[in-house]
Amino acid sequence: MFLIPKKNIKNFNTEKICFVLNEFSSAEFSSAVEMLFAAKKTNDVKLSISFIKHCLDEYKHYSIFTKIKNKLRKKYKINRKDLNFVSNQLFYKGYLDKNGFLFEKKKLSDFSLFIGVNEEIAEKKLLKFYKYIQKKFPDISSEIKDILEDEQNHAHYSMNFSKKKNNSILFYIKFLKEKMFGHLRHFYADRLKNLSFIFYPILIFIILAIYPIIFFLNLKNNNSDQNVMKNIDPAGLL
Ligand SMILES: [Fe+2]
Ligand SMILES: [Fe+2]
Repeated sequence: MFLIPKKNIKNFNTEKICFVLNEFSSAEFSSAVEMLFAAKKTNDVKLSISFIKHCLDEYKHYSIFTKIKNKLRKKYKINRKDLNFVSNQLFYKGYLDKNGFLFEKKKLSDFSLFIGVNEEIAEKKLLKFYKYIQKKFPDISSEIKDILEDEQNHAHYSMNFSKKKNNSILFYIKFLKEKMFGHLRHFYADRLKNLSFIFYPILIFIILAIYPIIFFLNLKNNNSDQNVMKNIDPAGLL
């Protein structure tokens, strides 16, 4: 879920490339965590092994993207702190959910379909990025090509597994639903900056509207709580 411009690709400077690489790193690391959790939770040994393999692939992708990004940052002296990989931000950025892992929230048939559809979408995004980076930085593009092959395999295996777990009509209905939601999520994330001009004024309006209520409630509390010494229970200090 990151910005890869379609029309103004010539304006895609090295800083923006580092930004995209950092987002790819975040997505890969999160996928590795999700797969590790799934491997730990399933009782099917064969499936657990395939989840572990998938997890190791995603972690390898994370390492490659991070290595390329750090190389570019060093070479072009890019010191922006927001280009650092910070694992805690995976929740805030929406790559991981604090309320639970995908494997906990979905049935196995839906989990595999979700993974398959999102691997396909991610693969298309990476292909677009690869085509661009191939011209500008041919020396690092071969590593990205290897990742692309892995992603094609992930999408292929997840889809096949999902087809076996769902009956054919249900598979296509769920497939279309996941694809639509997947594209919507990426569409929203890619255009977050452009959409902010709609959402920020609404947010400011809501804050301004509820501020008098909060202020009034605080005043009421303050009247009774202001005498701090009076409210201290001496027994509570022991
Ligand atoms: Fe990956
Ligand atoms: Fe993948």
